[in-house]
Amino acid sequence: MEELELLKLADKAKENAYAPYSGFQVGAALLTADGEIFTGCNVENSSYGAAICGERSAVVQAVSHGKREFAAIAIASSGDDTVYPCGICRQVLHEFNPDMKVICQSPKGYEVYRLSELMPKGF
Ligand code: THU
Repeated sequence: MEELELLKLADKAKENAYAPYSGFQVGAALLTADGEIFTGCNVENSSYGAAICGERSAVVQAVSHGKREFAAIAIASSGDDTVYPCGICRQVLHEFNPDMKVICQSPKGYEVYRLSELMPKGF
């Protein structure tokens, strides 16, 4: 699976975002070690703190389907800047694979990191 292909799936997944409060739509596409893909989007709530990010929504999808080994995640948003995973999502991803690739949509296309770069010395 190409990085760009995964990013396109993330970009498509953001169309389902429920983000009436922030207006910031996020989509994520998670690639499992055995080549499956699970997507997610952010889902907000009138009780703002109950919102779930696109990245965690994809993780919940994958784990709910019995998948726990992740190779990469791509993240896309409706914003103009590069989209990086928030701290809570970094922690949740770290649980499953600190070395997974993180593909972040950017104005010029995308940036690629290892999760361990974005979250050094994680728990
Ligand atoms: N959000 C994500 O889904 N992923 C990120 O990486 C950053 C933030 C969501 C949470 C909230 O619904 C909205 O974007 C604004 O913060």
